[in-house]
Amino acid sequence: MIADTVKGSVRNESRGVDLLKALEVAEKGKKLDGGELRGKPVSSSLEAIRTSDADIIVEATWTNLKDAEPGLGHIVTALENGKDVVTSNKGPIALAYKKLTNLAKAKRRQLRFEATVMSGTPVFNMRESGLAGAEIKSLRGILNGTTNYILTEMATGESYGEALRRAQQMGYAEVDPSGDVEGYDPAAKITILANALLNVQVQFKDVERIGITGITNENIKDAARDSKRIKLVASASHNESGRFNVTVKPLLVPDNDILAHVDGVLNALAISMDVQPDVTIIGPGAGGDSAGYGLLNDILSIHKLRPASSYT
Ligand SMILES: NC(=O)c1ccc[n+]([C@@H]2O[C@H](COP(=O)([O-])OP(=O)(O)OC[C@H]3O[C@@H](n4cnc5c(N)ncnc54)[C@H](OP(=O)(O)O)[C@@H]3O)[C@@H](O)[C@H]2O)c1
Repeated sequence: MIADTVKGSVRNESRGVDLLKALEVAEKGKKLDGGELRGKPVSSSLEAIRTSDADIIVEATWTNLKDAEPGLGHIVTALENGKDVVTSNKGPIALAYKKLTNLAKAKRRQLRFEATVMSGTPVFNMRESGLAGAEIKSLRGILNGTTNYILTEMATGESYGEALRRAQQMGYAEVDPSGDVEGYDPAAKITILANALLNVQVQFKDVERIGITGITNENIKDAARDSKRIKLVASASHNESGRFNVTVKPLLVPDNDILAHVDGVLNALAISMDVQPDVTIIGPGAGGDSAGYGLLNDILSIHKLRPASSYT
């Protein structure tokens, strides 16, 4: 079965779709359901998920932080139809964590989302195995490569505008960069981390969020004079009055803090726990290959937990 919003769709249950022929049709700019391929059309991506005999649905549509669609509908449909789900899409996990994890539990299916935070750098899978048994107390991270790249370039003397333009030329920043520079992307990621690793119910809309648009070269120079760096830090922890705080904001990070030395598009997450001092993981936070690796890692985890032979 192939279902594509632009190129059309086709399903052939008995013989499968002739993939070479499908490529030929698509390359000619024709629709897959135009009659050149044997099979029936599929009316929508939701029908494709409902009627597919796949064990695992890999959801990788675009991230929508307003209502999480179409990813949310895809994930709900997959779980309701008894399929495990692996996703790199932050929207549904940040906006509907509780609903989706409850549904997965009720349907006794796996919902895994390693690639939603720090792409293919292991966070959730590491928590399950490498940090098993530890109680995680708080999290602090640099979770957005675009803003970290801009701040790193500004530290070499580039203006905010020049650094942003360069980030756009390198493909790190979108034409509309607001999701990154206003801090929405790291706010979604820290929401996911807080819900999944700290077991607290945090809503994306409640994250206190300040982006990097107000940071000047002067601010960065002043920080350097005090042996500090300005970093956009996402954190989740209890404050002095015991209230749980989830924030994304530019902070002065002292030179002796490992986060001060995470430069360019790299991401990092410092995990504080009860049984040992902080563990910090540093790695790529974006890139198609890295996100693909995160998805593959989740598929392998599901396979370990539930070998294909156990599906009914
Ligand atoms: N690439 C990365 O560095 C990275 C890293 C970590 C996480 N992620 C996340 O992974 C997801 C995919 O990333 P990407 O870079 O591949 O995003 P992308 O380039 O925006 O691709 C999104 C894909 O979703 C398809 N799509 C949209 N609506 C659909 C619908 N209703 N039914 C079926 N397909 C639909 C689009 O198809 P059309 O092209 O036909 O519109 C497109 O192929 C995103 O949520 C992203 O945030 C990406």
